Amino acid sequence: NGEMRQWTGKTQDVWSPVYVKTEKGLEQKRIGSYPITDAPDAIEVLYAAVKAYNNGRGEWPSMSVKQRIECVERFTQKMIQKRDEVVKLLMWEIGKSLGDSQKEFDRTVQYIYDTIDALKDIDRNSSTFLIEEGIIGQVRRSPLGVVLCMGPFNYPLNETFTTLIPALIMGNTLLFKPPKHGTLLHYPLLEAFRDSFPAGVINTVYGRGNSVIPSLMESGKIDVLTLIGSSKVADKLKKMHPKVNRLRAILGLDAKNAAIVTESSDLELAVKECMLGSLSFNGQRCTALKIMFVHDTLIEKFNQRMAEEIGKLKLGLMWEKGVNITPLPEPNKPAYLKELIEDAKLHGAKVINENGGESFKSFVFPALLSPVTSQMKIWHEEQFGPVVPVVPFNNIEEPIEYITNSSHGQQVSIFGTDVNQISELIDAAVNQVSRVNINAQCQRGPDTFPFTGRKDSAEGTLSVTAALRSFSIRTVVATKQ
Ligand code: G3H
Repeated sequence: NGEMRQWTGKTQDVWSPVYVKTEKGLEQKRIGSYPITDAPDAIEVLYAAVKAYNNGRGEWPSMSVKQRIECVERFTQKMIQKRDEVVKLLMWEIGKSLGDSQKEFDRTVQYIYDTIDALKDIDRNSSTFLIEEGIIGQVRRSPLGVVLCMGPFNYPLNETFTTLIPALIMGNTLLFKPPKHGTLLHYPLLEAFRDSFPAGVINTVYGRGNSVIPSLMESGKIDVLTLIGSSKVADKLKKMHPKVNRLRAILGLDAKNAAIVTESSDLELAVKECMLGSLSFNGQRCTALKIMFVHDTLIEKFNQRMAEEIGKLKLGLMWEKGVNITPLPEPNKPAYLKELIEDAKLHGAKVINENGGESFKSFVFPALLSPVTSQMKIWHEEQFGPVVPVVPFNNIEEPIEYITNSSHGQQVSIFGTDVNQISELIDAAVNQVSRVNINAQCQRGPDTFPFTGRKDSAEGTLSVTAALRSFSIRTVVATKQ
């Protein structure tokens, strides 16, 4: 509500995934703390947002688009000054390499400027009138109300802002809860928020999700829920809302994107893209390739080349030059990945690459698993980490069946040079996923492309222009000619 409060209550320590030498041996480094708020604190914050929205009559939703853009521009200028601080926290909190942390920051700034440009376009177009049946209509975009915004740990800045910025600039007011891993990096931006927007327009809620979020959802005062996270959590939160039919949900959820490497593939290209697709940021991307279907005729060579390339990856700390494999921020992840690998081995798969799956503290060296079958957990579960399952196939119907039966529907990558077969695969895939990549890994960008998913993978569409639409509603002002 426009004020920075000194917190006197309980706090939660934040531990980096980096271990440092102490007198007691190797210990995780404590890098800060955040307030543990409770339901009453969260409700107080909620009412700040409700008051600022004031049923659409508050200062912020009543402002012109030009004025709102000016506020966002002011914020962005201040944000840019905090680049080094935010980048450093990104590295320490979630183990993202220096280069990738800088990219995440710069991509976010670019996203804000692209959003401003897209909004200017929408605004210009709203002065285009519809004339039909003797009626003149002007289509405006109006805000939806109070938005609860939650981002993920793997892109705690960028993906939070891909919902927060469009929601804000369209005139909604916001409550924003930073992810558990990736909280501290938002601290340097709080003053910039306070100094750029009217009080109550953007409010930060700290604390444990399960003690603050239910009270917010159950209040019935949240008009839009936006979450980048798991389908399970999203379903649970939606059910807490007393009038779920009045709640708009804009969600980026689980995914199990498949690569299909057909017989006519350029093998080196497929290996390069599958490496990037499955192991960038240790495989912790919703768009990561999480299962590779490889034609029988190529499987031996594919596995050999993948194993060689994985062997070249450099494991190290985030600021080391050329580092690829960094510490995993989720403390239970190494054990979970081990469980997936052991289960696959038990059902007949082998770890193909040297040192595959070996772990030390928060590090896990990537494991290339083959042959993977539907008996294994890794076939069904989203590993969200450095485990690369390879499935040999003989008939193209096998991978098609996998993507058709999957409860996920985000993206697929198809490799090959046989135009007829690729076309057939594209036709099958477009009814299952929301993006089909040809001879390329799966990815969200460019950020101006619509980003969504089918089935359990998403609700609503994100990316620059699509997000502005998602966080607003069309209102027609009409008169007789
Ligand atoms: O984690 C999910 C992100 O949307 C992935 O984005 O493809 O740009 O890495 P990215």
